[in-house]
Formats: sequence, structure tokens, C-alpha cells
Amino acid sequence: MDGYRIKTVTARRIYDSRANPAVEVDIRLEDGTLGRGMVPSGASTGKYEALELRDGGGNLGGKGVDKALRNIRESLAPALIGMDAGRQREIDGKMIELDGSANKANLGANAILGCSLAACRAAANHRRLPLYAYLGGALAATLPVPMVQIIGGGAHAAHAVDIQDYLVIPLGEKTFAAAYEKVVNVYIAARRLFAEQGKPLSLADEGGLWPTGFKSNEEGVALLTESIARAGYRPGRDLAIALDVAASEFYDREAGVYRLNMENRELSREQFIGMLCDWVDRYPIVSIEDGASEHDWEGARMLTDRLGGRVQLIGDDLFATNVERIRRGVNEGCYNAVLVKMNQIGTISETFEAINYARGRGYLPVVSARSGETEDATVVHLAVAANAGQLKVGSAARGERTAKWNEAIRVEEELGPSGRYPGAGVFLDAGIAVFGK
Ligand code: PGA
Ligand code: ZN
Repeated sequence: MDGYRIKTVTARRIYDSRANPAVEVDIRLEDGTLGRGMVPSGASTGKYEALELRDGGGNLGGKGVDKALRNIRESLAPALIGMDAGRQREIDGKMIELDGSANKANLGANAILGCSLAACRAAANHRRLPLYAYLGGALAATLPVPMVQIIGGGAHAAHAVDIQDYLVIPLGEKTFAAAYEKVVNVYIAARRLFAEQGKPLSLADEGGLWPTGFKSNEEGVALLTESIARAGYRPGRDLAIALDVAASEFYDREAGVYRLNMENRELSREQFIGMLCDWVDRYPIVSIEDGASEHDWEGARMLTDRLGGRVQLIGDDLFATNVERIRRGVNEGCYNAVLVKMNQIGTISETFEAINYARGRGYLPVVSARSGETEDATVVHLAVAANAGQLKVGSAARGERTAKWNEAIRVEEELGPSGRYPGAGVFLDAGIAVFGK
């Protein structure tokens, strides 16, 4: 195709929202079109994710990306130059082949994803299409239901509480903009509630309120319920609660126990799952992510047996956006939803495969950013292109978060009447009885 061919690949070090180095790639096509890719990074990184290549050593906290940049310049760029940027599968396939490992350990998933993202941006720009339309074609028209963090915790807040994310999901509304407005009202109400309780207004890594002075993990769930009510909404009807437990972070694999460090308690698998079930009975919780550790398939199955009909159960660390791992989850009856993070698998093509595989088995895809983010908003386009139905990119505050929510507002406006916002239908259609309690 004319002008589609990749002419140059430029890699540079930028920095993410936690001040850690990150990979940025510029791909320029023969006609001069530019495409840029920026690579995010997690903190509660799953063991089964594709490998993020870091330099180690003393500089920049050991998080340098010079090796990844060198791999782009010396291995990936020479292979990509001359290729057709409009052929994403070929580009991604070529990089997977060059790397040659099962988890992108040789060249680094951060190096590969930077190029993958830059190539699709360049191709979209070349065709003068918004990224969602380029990636999804004419069928890309579903705005995602936002899952928004109100209180941060776990690895994103120095483990002040064990649970990582206390989030809300708006259930009604006909547009993304109206649904997101409700979330912002809850965020404001939560901020006021914190101020009344004399809690300092610090923000955790993803912009949620820092859980100062909490006496238990459950306190966050209660605070969220109260914030929804204070904002003038009905908890469980207008907005519901979602949790990212991130249980891999406090599971002791040897002992097979869940250690709630801030409560000084150690729970067996049965007791821990019992605690989550008890919360679901007493609070308007519609979604639980990583309610069991990435090493505890048995726990994931037990949780699914007990809650699968009325709660969305998302596998993040357990599935790692990896079709093989999702397949095992499907076969063993673990969870009913998949968190989708591009850098867990390392290319755009494989990310789409994971979404399509999950959906084909009745698992809901939830597109997600990372805790270390950039101002790039590609995840929004991915969610719309794949008609994923849900998007999780952190809280309502901090620029790297608003970069995504604001982009969704723009995309909705651009789609106009052809855009579809599913609201609570995203759960009801999957047989999850969100209003059932
Ligand atoms: P991470 O957190 O990017 O630190 O892994 C996000 C999540 O666990 O969903
Ligand atoms: Zn998670």
C-alpha cells in the first residue's frame, strides 16, 4: 500500500506517572505520517505477565529502560523498516518471532509493545481515522461503562490497607458522559467525608484517596457506600461497588493462607472467601477482581461457585491477558470476566485475541490501564474498538487518569447517535444479577 511503509523507528526514554522510566516509540511512514506508542507499567505485577525489561543497578531505582531501547534500535527497528504499518498482525508476529521466547523475555514486552502501538497509530493517522475506528472498523461503537477508583490501597498506597482498589460502577444512564458525572459526584462526596473525618487529602498512585487511619479493610467498603448515598444516589441501584482485591499481593503460597497485614489476621482460603461473600451480602458489590491469588486456582473456583451468578469476578493476575491461562480458567470454572492489559501480553494483536477468546466463552472483558501510566489514551480506543463494554483506568483525579476519561467523553461526542452506551446491560446481558439484592 502506498505510503504505508515504515521508514524510521525512533525509541526514547520518557517517564511515567510514578516517575519511573518508560519506553516511547515514534514510527514514521514513508509519506511522513507519525505514530507514537507509550508504554505503561504496573506495580502489583502478576507473575505470569510478559516480561518488562528493566536495567537494574542503582540509577533511576533500577528501573532504567536502556536495554529495551537498545533492543528496539538494534533488533526491532531493522526488521520493521520497510514493513506495511497497516498489517498489524504481521508486524506483531514478526516481533514475537524475533523475540523467540514464550513471554517476550529476550527483547522485552515494553520494547515490543511500544513498537506495536506506534505502528497502529501511524496506520490510523495515515488513513486519517480515529484509532478506535481504525482498530475496530465500522462495528466499533460501544462506549465503555467506567469502573472508577475512589480509594486506593495495596501496592498503590504503601499497603496502608491490604485491598488495592475500592471502585464504583454507575449502573444506569444512557451515555458515558452522564454515567461518569455520577462517579465524579461520588468522588467529591468521598473527599468531603475524608475531610470531615480529619483524614489528610493525599492521593494514591491511581488518583484515589489515600486510606489514612483505616482500622480495617472493610472500612473502605463502608465509606464508599456512604459516599454514594451522600452524593444523593441509591447504593446498589444508581451506583455499585467494585473491588480489586489483588489477593496475589498478600497470599502466602507456602502456607496457603491470606495474610491481612493491616488487620494482623491470617485467613485460610475458606475463611478469606467467606469474608468476601459476607461483604457481598452486606454491601452493594457487583464486581470483585483477583479475589483469589494468581497461584490459587482452587480459591478462584470456590469464589466462582459461590458468587458467579450475582457478581462479576475478574481475573487479572490469574489470567494475565493470556489466552492459554484464560482457557484454563474457562475449563476449571474460574471467574466470569477477564482484565485486559496490553502490556501483560505485549502486542495489540494478542490483546484483541484475548478479548475475543474471553468473550467467545461468555467471559466479560474489562479493558484496563496500569498503575504507572502516561498521558496516552490508547486504552480508551481499544475498549471502543473491541466493544469491550467496560474500562478501568484508575481514579477521577490526576492527569494521566483524566487523559483517558476525557478521551472517552470526546469519542462519545464524535460517535454521536451511532455510539452505544450499555450501562447496567453489560452485566444483565451476561446473567449477572446486579440489581438482585
Ligand atoms: P497494576 O494495578 O497496574 O499495579 O498491576 C492495576 C491492577 O491491579 O488492576
Ligand atoms: Zn488488578
